[in-house]
Amino acid sequence: MIKFTIITLFPEMINTFKSASIIKKAISNNKVTIDVVDLKCFGKGKRRNVDDTVYGGGTGMIITVPVLDKALDFVLNNNVNSIYNNSKIIYMSPKGKLFSQKIAKKYASSKDNIHYIVICGHYEGIDERIFSLYEIEEISIGDYILTGGEIPAMVFTDSIVRLIDGVLKEEATLLESHTNNLLEEPQYTKPFEYKGLKVPEILISRTS
Ligand SMILES: C[S@@+](CC[C@H](N)C(=O)[O-])C[C@H]1O[C@@H](n2cnc3c(N)ncnc32)[C@H](O)[C@@H]1O
Repeated sequence: MIKFTIITLFPEMINTFKSASIIKKAISNNKVTIDVVDLKCFGKGKRRNVDDTVYGGGTGMIITVPVLDKALDFVLNNNVNSIYNNSKIIYMSPKGKLFSQKIAKKYASSKDNIHYIVICGHYEGIDERIFSLYEIEEISIGDYILTGGEIPAMVFTDSIVRLIDGVLKEEATLLESHTNNLLEEPQYTKPFEYKGLKVPEILISRTS
């Protein structure tokens, strides 16, 4: 079994992701568990502050190390006596290892009960000291900058969940682009002819 816990400042984004399509079905069929943890719950003071200015100058704010530490401690302690005590922490980061279908397959094929704890950064990022406190893998979804780690976390989670055994029919994923370093062939559906454009004959003979 695979469990994801996504730590985010914007739980509503992840909750929407959880409530649609294949992900929703995979959750209701007990193929995966996806928990969402609101980072603001670990914020400081009445206003639940999670960020502060950058040492050495620079624009923007950084998510503080105590806030991240408390959140990770909470998530890990909550799972101590569960079947998900085998955890892997991932930080969605533009500086991380480039994510791929191969990595998604590896993560989806884990034989043990595994718990992926996914940290979504925001603002200018997170305090570097968190990497000294925990073993964290940094994963990037591409060489561009997004506002926060929520979209990368959804990309990461979605691509893994659809590869978990029983989520899709096996043949649906076997022939997909990037599965064997190949791209899927062009596909067509009815009508056979549209604005003079016909479906290639070879596919018609294959269908019949
Ligand atoms: C605005 S970005 C921070 C960028 C950071 N200041 C830098 O230059 O590397 C805010 C957050 O979005 C997430 N993020 C942005 N782009 C990403 C990408 N390509 N892959 C994974 N995460 C990304 C990270 O969690 C990051 O902490």
